[in-house]
Formats: sequence, structure tokens, C-alpha cells
Amino acid sequence: MWDYTDKVKEFFLNPKNIGEIDNPDAVGEVGSIICGDALRLTLKVDKETNRIIDARFQTFGCASAIASSSALTELIKGKTLDEALQISNQDIADFLGGLPKEKMHCSVMGREALEAAINNYKGIPTVVEEEGRVVCQCFNVTEEKIRKVAMENHLTTVDDITNYTKAGGGCGECKSEIEAILRDIWLIKKPEKLTKQKKLTNLQKIALIQEIIEKEIRPALQSDGGDIEIIDIEGNKVVIAMRGMCTGCVMSGVTIDSIQNKLREFVGEEITVEVQ
Ligand code: FES
Repeated sequence: MWDYTDKVKEFFLNPKNIGEIDNPDAVGEVGSIICGDALRLTLKVDKETNRIIDARFQTFGCASAIASSSALTELIKGKTLDEALQISNQDIADFLGGLPKEKMHCSVMGREALEAAINNYKGIPTVVEEEGRVVCQCFNVTEEKIRKVAMENHLTTVDDITNYTKAGGGCGECKSEIEAILRDIWLIKKPEKLTKQKKLTNLQKIALIQEIIEKEIRPALQSDGGDIEIIDIEGNKVVIAMRGMCTGCVMSGVTIDSIQNKLREFVGEEITVEVQ
């Protein structure tokens, strides 16, 4: 049994703006009934002001999909198209007082339908996800979608991706590929919620180095059977030891460079990493 907020229950039991607009100015369709969820969003737009004057939805999905779609229509009515585009899937969930994490994919579907409808209004061909490389065959989820949702929502685990996109929630065969995509994203780009700090005391610096290694570096190495251990932190020098599959790995030089780059990005340009 999912733990729904009162507002989710209200928007599920008494959904607002359900149905379809006659002669809509914009249509956004996402999802697939085969994969379990589908949403069709229709908009009426004031051509002079580009303001959304009506929005209606039809969905094939669970209580959260109905509540999220209904919430979306409430959020966008009265907004200009540009203002509506600022609405994220998290905004939809927040409007409802939150969604169970396993149901966040419903808010993602709402955001996608909005984007598709606005593209349709502007005559911009929507990038059809099916054209991208499909990573999860069970739910037809592309690499592009996984990357986009991960970066927008700061997702770092396969379970997160399953909650937000369903990818990985079927046979599970795609999980290792999702892990590889997440590693690729976060070894290159920092999660935005972490911010580079300045003028750290020695204790703060040591704590931050430990945190970055624990949260951002070790999980990625461990998922490949490798690991590192912090041996010492002397000023700006971080001494580590390679463990597991990382020991003697021919790619260890690349791994060390990437660890050093990440620590420099988050902690300070002066950080160096040495292997014991
Ligand atoms: S291929 Fe992704 S869960 Fe089956």
C-alpha cells in the first residue's frame, strides 16, 4: 500500500481538468499503454499572450498518474508557455505534497507531456525517445531519458532511476547498463546539490574529501568490483590505496586522474592524489 498524501488522494478521487479540449492548440502525448502508463495533454493557448487558458488530460495509469496529470494542468493554467516550461517534475510532486518515491515516474511523465505539447504548439518536432538507444527493453526507456532524468533530479542509484523512469523495474537485465550511465554522468558532472566550498578549515577539508570519496567515488568503483581506501590526508595531499579489482588494474592511472579531478572540482584546485 502506497503512502499517499491527502492532496494526492484528493486529486485522484476528484481529478481536475480531465478530458480533452475540442480543437486544441497543442497536444502532447507520452508513454505507452504497453509499458503501463500513457498521458495525453491538450492545451488551449491565447495566441497573443502565449498564455495557457485551458489544459486537459487523459491518462492510462495509476492513482499517482491521475493525480500528477491533474496537478500539472492546475499548475500550468494561466501561465505563459515559457513560464510553464519552468515547471519540473519535482514541482508537480511538491504541489501534491510529495509522491511515494516509487511513483516519481508519474511526475516525470507529466513534465514530458508538457514539453511535448509546447513543442507541438511551437511546431518543434519532439525528439522521439524511441529514436534513441533503448537501454531498458521492458519499459522502452532510452539512454537519453535516463541521462536527462538523472541530471534534473540528481539521481545516483539504479533504484532512483527505476522510481523515476521504471527502467530496471522489470527483468532487471538493463541494470548494469544503467549503472554504467550513472557512473559516466557523475564522474564527469557533479550533482548540482553539492557546491564547491571555499576557505575551508583543515578539518572541513578533510571531512569534505572523505564525503566526496564515500558518496561520489567509492560506489562507482565498488560496482565494478574495485575500491579505494584513504590512507592519509596531509594538507592538500590525499594518499589512497587501491583495493579489490582496482589493485594492479591497467586503467588505474585513469581512475586516479578522475579521482583527483573530482576532488579538485569539489574541494580545491590544489588537491593532489597519490597512491601508496
Ligand atoms: S530490460 Fe530493463 S527491466 Fe528488463
